[in-house]
Amino acid sequence: MMKNLPLITVKGIQRRFVNGIGYGIDGETCRIGDIQRATSDKPVSYSNIAIKLLLGSYKLKKATADVDGKVSTFENVWMASTMKGRFYGGGMMVAPAQDRFKEDGTVSVVTLYKKNRLVTLMRFPSLNKGEHVLKKFRLTVHIHDAVYELVANNNETLITALERAGIPAVVRCRNGSCGFCHSRVVHGNYYIAKKDDFRRLADRKFNYIHPCSTYPEPDMIIDIPIMNP
Ligand code: FES
Repeated sequence: MMKNLPLITVKGIQRRFVNGIGYGIDGETCRIGDIQRATSDKPVSYSNIAIKLLLGSYKLKKATADVDGKVSTFENVWMASTMKGRFYGGGMMVAPAQDRFKEDGTVSVVTLYKKNRLVTLMRFPSLNKGEHVLKKFRLTVHIHDAVYELVANNNETLITALERAGIPAVVRCRNGSCGFCHSRVVHGNYYIAKKDDFRRLADRKFNYIHPCSTYPEPDMIIDIPIMNP
């Protein structure tokens, strides 16, 4: 049985969706592919349709995305997809950090925007392996007298980055709710999804975070007070 299916409202009509909702070149590619499928026996090549659209006929759009209350507006948008699954039907890994089995039913929102058609065309194949959204940041971690320098990806929590680097992390619930991994941000920005932000008011005020539910933004320094034995 399918559970936790996301809800979407388009022009006042609400529907549940299974894998993803795509606007822009993704939706247009599917629309043209459906027409070709209905009018011809030949196999439909969605990649060819997308490339033709990329080369000329697709008109760039403006899009506004509201993710957990964080509103962002983008110009020159090629596509904006909300994904329950990680892949498009054709096998493109558009949302590499998405996990459709997560109990909380969260989705990923991916926006592809860039004015230059040629550059977009050259980078389009990176979607196949999900390399279009991977960014790496430098993370400095203070634990008592020790200082660790490591690389954190934008699509992993700080705890995951620590564990990947072989640093034993202080962790229990892994969803931001227990406060056991409570740490201080010395420098830099970060992102916490609204639904995963269980910090007390004082913690927010004095820049404390729960690294198990916090994602890095460029070049952070954090101070972790204790370590697992
Ligand atoms: S381990 Fe529970 S809040 Fe991080």
